Amino acid sequence: MALVTVAELLKKAEEGKYAVGAFNCNNMEIVQAIITAAEAERAPVIIQASQGAIKYAGLEWVAGMAKLAAERAKVPAAIHLDHGTSFEQCVKCIRAGFSSVMIDGSKLPFEENVALTNKVVEVARAVGVSVEAELGKIGGTEDDISVDEREAMLTDPDEAKEFVERTKVDSLAVAIGTAHGQYKGKPELDFDRLEKIKKLVKIPIVLHGSSGVPDEDIRRAISLGVSKVNIDTNIREAFTNTMRKILNEKPKEIDPRKVLGPAREAAVEVIREKIRLFGTSGKA
Ligand code: G3H
Ligand code: 13P
Ligand code: ZN
Repeated sequence: MALVTVAELLKKAEEGKYAVGAFNCNNMEIVQAIITAAEAERAPVIIQASQGAIKYAGLEWVAGMAKLAAERAKVPAAIHLDHGTSFEQCVKCIRAGFSSVMIDGSKLPFEENVALTNKVVEVARAVGVSVEAELGKIGGTEDDISVDEREAMLTDPDEAKEFVERTKVDSLAVAIGTAHGQYKGKPELDFDRLEKIKKLVKIPIVLHGSSGVPDEDIRRAISLGVSKVNIDTNIREAFTNTMRKILNEKPKEIDPRKVLGPAREAAVEVIREKIRLFGTSGKA
């Protein structure tokens, strides 16, 4: 099955009222787990790599593994750069064969975010690569912030409208109360804000920091217009906790395959659960 863009997957997701899972990979086993899970569920899928993952494994390795997986897959698959923070990083990933990039200018002032995003969109358009941008600050669960600070971080619907009109991005990541990493308490999603954004912004919306968000909140977010859901932490938990369990049970084990194989299986299971939750099963 051919490698596809995220834009193409999200267009169908919007029409079908489901969301496509975007799963972060850091190594071969996780790339394999993502594709195995998607094939088992007959679901379209997005394999994504962060700058941290690229730094860890090397761009050629990440791109090589993801391309092999996507091109051999029996389901449509996209390869996406997650939270690219520079023009250079996006161009390198496009050149390495990614079908989609995220340019995350959310830490910049509005005008600079628009300018940087436009620069990436111009290059990506020329070679048929789709672009996700971010407006508002998603942040991490470790951020200790007040209610006012939280409010200031969330995406402003009118700004989102202007941002999308001026950049013509394919999809927009919004801050509506989710955070990256493990939540300390229950995340409070601002669904009114999401509804307002979706009324004003006519492109697919992306939910980041989705690990640990209760299932009913994920379903509600998808019903209100989220068409791409990013998951990393839940995969890390399943993968690494399985490794830890095996190593605790068998402290003398030295065969990496005996540790990484079950970790890969645990990742497949968690990814399959997410695919079912997002309503993507059978949509390939
Ligand atoms: O959005 C963040 C992702 O979970 C990637 O995290 O930068 O540690 O690879 P990372
Ligand atoms: P989680 O690690 O909270 O699932 O967030 C993933 C993400 O948003 C990647 O961009
Ligand atoms: Zn993210």
